[in-house]
Amino acid sequence: MKIRWLGHSCFLITGKDRVLIDPYLSGNPAAPLKPSEVECDIICVTHGHSDHIGDAVEIAKRTKAPIVALFEVASYVGQWTESLGMNIGGSTHVKGTTIKMVQAVHSSGIPGSEFKHSGGSAAGFIIGNDKKVYHAGDTALFQDMKTIGEVDRPDVAMLPIGDLYTMGPKDAAMAVSWINPHIAIPMHYNTWPKVQQDPNEFKRLVEGKTSTKVLVLKVGEEVDV
Ligand code: NI
Ligand code: MN
Repeated sequence: MKIRWLGHSCFLITGKDRVLIDPYLSGNPAAPLKPSEVECDIICVTHGHSDHIGDAVEIAKRTKAPIVALFEVASYVGQWTESLGMNIGGSTHVKGTTIKMVQAVHSSGIPGSEFKHSGGSAAGFIIGNDKKVYHAGDTALFQDMKTIGEVDRPDVAMLPIGDLYTMGPKDAAMAVSWINPHIAIPMHYNTWPKVQQDPNEFKRLVEGKTSTKVLVLKVGEEVDV
């Protein structure tokens, strides 16, 4: 499985399918690609905020990739493109990939609709078949991450560390100890001054207390896991 970080919370995971998560590219000062340069088979959106829905609709229209999201967010983007709504705790197979939606502790209003369309709740995803990736979306630290570790047993966890809108490095390090993945990848930091963080502080905190390896990716970098 290959994982490429496209900045902020956007990743392109290539396993059986190419799964693009939270494609915030055109408004992102740190994005390495334009929306027109991304190819994918499935798009997953964790919640309604602009830095997560991002360019999902534009990319979906061009690539014909369905957008998988919480029911309310899926119904919003479904006005323009193919979408699949699901809800927290549910799993589905999209093309050749298993996708489960899990809880996130965060909000999900849709600024793109001037908050007229409800975004329901924020969510995270467990994506993959044999090897599984947990993308936490935007979230606080919550106790049920222990359940995700026990039940879903993800190999890789992508966790926000930017603080202010999500967990910071210290809480994210605690999350890693509860989820217990082989690899953790920090996200949702250094996009703007308000989420400025040192990812190596997160790496030190995690590797000091767990056997999980932290991969601090450069924007645009791809790793084989
Ligand atoms: Ni958010
Ligand atoms: Mn966000």
